Amino acid sequence: MASLQGKKILLGITGSIAAYKAAFFVRLLVKQGAEVRVIMTPAATSFVGPVTLSTLSKNPVITGLTEGNEWSNHVALGLWADAMIIAPATAHTIAKMAAGLADNMLQAVYLSARCPVFIAPAMDLDMWQHPATRHNVAKLVQFGHHLIQPDTGELASGLTGQGRMAEPEQLIRILEDFFAKRQSLKGKTVLITAGPTYEPIDPVRFIGNRSSGKMGIALAREAARRGATVELILGPSSQKMDHPAVHVTRVTTAEQMLQAAQTYFPQADITILAAAVADFRPEVTAPQKIKKQKGQDTLTLQLVKNPDIAATLAKDKKSGQLLIGFALETHDAIANAKKKLVAKGFDFIVLNDLQDPGAGFDHDTNKVRFLFKDNKAQEFQLKHKQQVAADIFDAIEDLTQSDP
Ligand code: C5P
Repeated sequence: MASLQGKKILLGITGSIAAYKAAFFVRLLVKQGAEVRVIMTPAATSFVGPVTLSTLSKNPVITGLTEGNEWSNHVALGLWADAMIIAPATAHTIAKMAAGLADNMLQAVYLSARCPVFIAPAMDLDMWQHPATRHNVAKLVQFGHHLIQPDTGELASGLTGQGRMAEPEQLIRILEDFFAKRQSLKGKTVLITAGPTYEPIDPVRFIGNRSSGKMGIALAREAARRGATVELILGPSSQKMDHPAVHVTRVTTAEQMLQAAQTYFPQADITILAAAVADFRPEVTAPQKIKKQKGQDTLTLQLVKNPDIAATLAKDKKSGQLLIGFALETHDAIANAKKKLVAKGFDFIVLNDLQDPGAGFDHDTNKVRFLFKDNKAQEFQLKHKQQVAADIFDAIEDLTQSDP
């Protein structure tokens, strides 16, 4: 059976020279058995003709908010699709999607679509690197959309750099992969800890760390995408998680995080500890704001050890349960991570080295290495945290398949 048999794909084409590749893409989609509806922005029609696309897709192409005297029903189209893909997506369309504008049919359909959305950007390298585009792309990823990174190579401008739309064959592979994995964790429960912990010194101060919670949230989103039920225990983070399949428990301190984790751990098939937990907390929390005294030059805080959530859960781990941890190291990264893998009873550990630019706290990207119990290792390029999350779940699924 063709891999995308019966899948309803809504393709949005915007005004980029890469629009010519959309014709090949439609042909491949139809060959794979997909039903394809095409929406073009007015600018896209200058690059490729609607007749070509309607012939290839075997459906009329929609270009305006009205067709003749009739209103085009953008809501119905948005509900019809199993997936929407915007290829090529210009910097302008990406900005409009991030801002929620609806000044053409493609934007109106996008805003009313309930299906997963894929974005294949195409633009000049400087437009792709511009802080405005970086900000808008990050927002779309935060919305839960799938970003298909542009390739690096020769661009229409004559410059060389990142900005070429991914090739149609690659877009097909990504859609196939998505539909194959969509239900791969159905029936499984995934427990994730994320974010920092804050350990109160007094009512206004705390001991904390720079963890943003972004990696854990990306993991929760990926698990939900694969059909799992997700328990996310989130420390004080400004990040928001709003997904019907993700139940969020907000906590502040390590002790609260442990308590919440212990509540959900017995039912969890897969537990990923992505939180940066404070190792120590003040022995006592002052009931009132601590005031500096006249002539006082030092202040001593007595700290006591926090519980190790990973090690505590590992003691109750049953066969079939998977436990995955993170390590963020500033020196002797591999040796330290290996020690943690063993000491905390992890099935594998995700190491991110602070020396890698773009990796670790508060970045949208991360560069990781997986270290397994059997001494195997897997190393990855710098990627968006959402793609790192997908790599982590691919490794988890490989482990469950090889160890039934
Ligand atoms: O902080 P550390 O490098 O030891 O963290 C390694 C792993 O252990 C991480 O997965 C972290 O979430 C987990 N951890 C924990 N409880 C702690 C400290 C760390 O679960 N008190």
